[in-house]
Amino acid sequence: MGKFEILDHPLIQHKLTIIRNENCGTREFRQVVNEIAELMAYEVSRDMPLEDVEVKTPVAVATEKQLAGKKVVIVPILRAGLGMVDGILELIPAAKVGHIGMYRDEETLQPHEYFVKMPEDLGSREMIIVDPMLATGGSAIMAVDALKKRGAKTIKFVCLVAAPEGVKALREKHPDIDVYAASLDDHLNEDGYIVPGLGDAGDRLFGTK
Ligand code: URA
Repeated sequence: MGKFEILDHPLIQHKLTIIRNENCGTREFRQVVNEIAELMAYEVSRDMPLEDVEVKTPVAVATEKQLAGKKVVIVPILRAGLGMVDGILELIPAAKVGHIGMYRDEETLQPHEYFVKMPEDLGSREMIIVDPMLATGGSAIMAVDALKKRGAKTIKFVCLVAAPEGVKALREKHPDIDVYAASLDDHLNEDGYIVPGLGDAGDRLFGTK
């Protein structure tokens, strides 16, 4: 079973409170989402494997460590996931970025993928799917489906705010992936919003309504 971790570093919690505030404007919201994503990337990358490498310092030759694992692909779920990409790239600048776009069918309410653009050879890469909100879990499940269908084996899902309903659904459907959130909130309301949440993450990031 993959892990489910709440990343409750004090800086993450503090910044999350800033963006929950309805008076936080677009510019500050965008900035702070990226800051949280960067801090989360630090925690999410904690289990990356290392290998020994010889390095000649100005003083001596030493055996030290370098990253040995799979190359990282950040995969934002459009559109709100885009808000987390730059923050993660600050820490993992060599990461590639794949994109997944999904829309919700008005009648069935089911998500459908309309755009998937990935680097090659997903099986040899570590995929980090990002979406600020894990609500029903529908889009997250479809995003993992889309990556597995294309050969991905190592997948992490990183969100800012999760609803218990979404965590349960995602972990039931994809028990092998690791799920990280900055907060596990109370519940989903009848309109599909996480409570207390932070509202519509995409609208708040991009200043739309
Ligand atoms: N998507 C959002 O942007 N916000 C929610 O509360 C739920 C889903």
